[in-house]
Amino acid sequence: MSISIVILAAGKGSRMKSTTPKVLHEISGKSMLFHAIDAGQKISDDITVVLYHQAARVQEAIEAEYQNVNFHMQDVEQFPGTGGAMKGVTTKYEKTLILNGDMPLITQNSLLALTGGEADINMSVIKLDNPDGYGRVLIDNEKVQEIVEQKDCNEAQLKTKTVNAGIYCVNTELLNRYIPLLSNDNAQEEYYLTDIVKMAVDENRTVSPIYVEEEEFKGVNSKFDLAEAEIIMQDRLKKELMAMGVTMRFPDTIYIDCRASFEGESILENGVTILGASKLINAHIKTNSIIENSIIENSDVGPMGRIRPLSHLKDTHVGNFVEVKKSTLTGVKAGHLAYIGDASIDEGSNIGAGVITCNYDGKAKHKTIIGKNVFVGSDCQLVAPINIEDDVIVAAGTTLNKDVKKGSLAITRTALKILPDFFYKFFGK
Ligand code: UD1
Ligand code: MG
Repeated sequence: MSISIVILAAGKGSRMKSTTPKVLHEISGKSMLFHAIDAGQKISDDITVVLYHQAARVQEAIEAEYQNVNFHMQDVEQFPGTGGAMKGVTTKYEKTLILNGDMPLITQNSLLALTGGEADINMSVIKLDNPDGYGRVLIDNEKVQEIVEQKDCNEAQLKTKTVNAGIYCVNTELLNRYIPLLSNDNAQEEYYLTDIVKMAVDENRTVSPIYVEEEEFKGVNSKFDLAEAEIIMQDRLKKELMAMGVTMRFPDTIYIDCRASFEGESILENGVTILGASKLINAHIKTNSIIENSIIENSDVGPMGRIRPLSHLKDTHVGNFVEVKKSTLTGVKAGHLAYIGDASIDEGSNIGAGVITCNYDGKAKHKTIIGKNVFVGSDCQLVAPINIEDDVIVAAGTTLNKDVKKGSLAITRTALKILPDFFYKFFGK
């Protein structure tokens, strides 16, 4: 569709009380601004983000993720306000959709609803029991007449419960003509984008109110708003995943990153956390386990298992208190209390309780390679780099620091001594 999008993200966001720019705060693993950009990119290839506060940091974050986003630096000193933000912005298409960078819950469908029809301006409105803080929208005969900011309202206007949700789709030619004409003659001495509505009405142009769901247009201004938006986003994500066949026990206790993907039929028990772009295929993740940026395929983890980034488990059983990092396990059983880092372990191998891959020598990380049908007994240390070939037994309690050839037994053990009656000699009878 031929529509341009401008995302306003220059504001300071002082109510967040944070050194991180407001729009870079994350909801379900993705920054608020990226949620808005993603929704926008589904309907437009011309997106401009308006920046000012911590502009370099926000721009850098966007550029690391997106190639085709344009930037505009607002002159906040001279032209503060949402109208000032639009000064000097040029857009490619006939219609320009303007939205705020702090509305992470907006969806493609709601954006589309604003772009239709014949009106010169479509604007998003919500009816609220408590309209406090919002610009009031004066509507006559289903046409918007004016938006009055709360601080500029008279007594009667303050009672209006129809408010401006803050998203507009404007005929670009009108926008380009009106923005230079805005004045800051108002209570906040700011240039209000909302004043373009009155300008259009004065020229007999039509401004249509589009009634929208409050939830999607929720602006995030504080850490409390952030937490509320997170709950709404998690609810949405989980509903979609359950509709796709993912089973969740007590969904309210589960956290899922919006970048995670699921295939087949997976089960998530209570307290499970799925982080990053993890991929779960027919996985069973048991109580209180954490999966981070990993692939879990026809495998089960936990309870209380921790799978750290860049791991791939296939046809594998990982039990309680096992930590796996950057490792590939295929057809493996690691039932209890182990650390497996920078390893690759092949089919039919068993990792006993208390096994540790000593992958770090204090300077660098090293790999542990374990072949097929290897039995690693309990409480072994595998000092990497190390290569254990197929069909090997590593006896319980072994500290292994040399490669082991196919079919061997590896065992390090000091001779066992048993001294009869030693207890009584030591402690007395
Ligand atoms: C604005 C609307 C108000 C509406 C409300 C909905 C105006 C004048 N008022 O008010 O009618 O009910 O949103 O949430 O537009 N921004 C800039 N540069 C600036 C100031 C703001 O880019 O100089 C950006 C902010 O980063 C934010 C957005 O514009 O993303 C909205 O700014 P904000 O200060 O929150 O506007 P409100 O006072 O809430
Ligand atoms: Mg606001």
